Amino acid sequence: MATPFSVYLVDDNPWHVEPVRCLLDEEAFTLTHWHSPRDAWNGINESIASDLVILDLDVEGEGSGGLAFADLIDHLRVRWPQVPLIVLSGQLDTDTVMRSRTHDVRAVVRKPYDIRYLLTTIYGILRDGLDAHIHELNRQHVQLTREFHRLQAQETPVQTQVNRALQLLSRHFRFEEDFMATHAYPQAREHKAAHDKLLLHAQALTRGGAVRAEAIGRFWRGVESDINDDAGYLAYLEGIHEQLSARLLPR
Ligand SMILES: [Fe+2]
Ligand SMILES: [Fe+2]
Repeated sequence: MATPFSVYLVDDNPWHVEPVRCLLDEEAFTLTHWHSPRDAWNGINESIASDLVILDLDVEGEGSGGLAFADLIDHLRVRWPQVPLIVLSGQLDTDTVMRSRTHDVRAVVRKPYDIRYLLTTIYGILRDGLDAHIHELNRQHVQLTREFHRLQAQETPVQTQVNRALQLLSRHFRFEEDFMATHAYPQAREHKAAHDKLLLHAQALTRGGAVRAEAIGRFWRGVESDINDDAGYLAYLEGIHEQLSARLLPR
């Protein structure tokens, strides 16, 4: 079953994994567990980016599968540069802290930890990720509105500007669709179909050479109705945001 969030955990100790698995609500979270850095390396190659990766830095010796954590973190950063990272460690020495800073680790949690503290850290990071997505979504809508209004103000818009606006739109659709597909948005398929229709319309619009402002205006009204449909998507995001907020312990 698709869930709004996915979390990857690298830890060789089942006593650490099971409480996290039990306490993360399975309707909202998919927890993927890798036993060793080697398993994680292979898993990262075969998976799509999750919302969060948690690494227990103390998996060593045989349990590590012969791979140092520094190498795994480097690999992770190449494959998924934006994914937030939490590290767990029994010893928070200067070296661990410095390495964590270098790799833009979002939180370092000292073991043994209080499970409620770890869960609160997880929820807080996921909520920040949702905030960033909603902020970017709104920024893109404002940018698209500005670009298309500027085109409509010219009688025959400059072709390069039309192409630029359509490229922005296509990137925006991809941005929305990727997040919808990986966060269990129930209307993801229908919403993508509406995007695809608009992109076909965009192709037809530019096929005959110069585009008139009225044609841009008609096309833009279709995009505006998609932006109105995004209100349903935003309401969905706000709902899962509220669920995360409700799970956070008071600071
Ligand atoms: Fe949309
Ligand atoms: Fe949109």
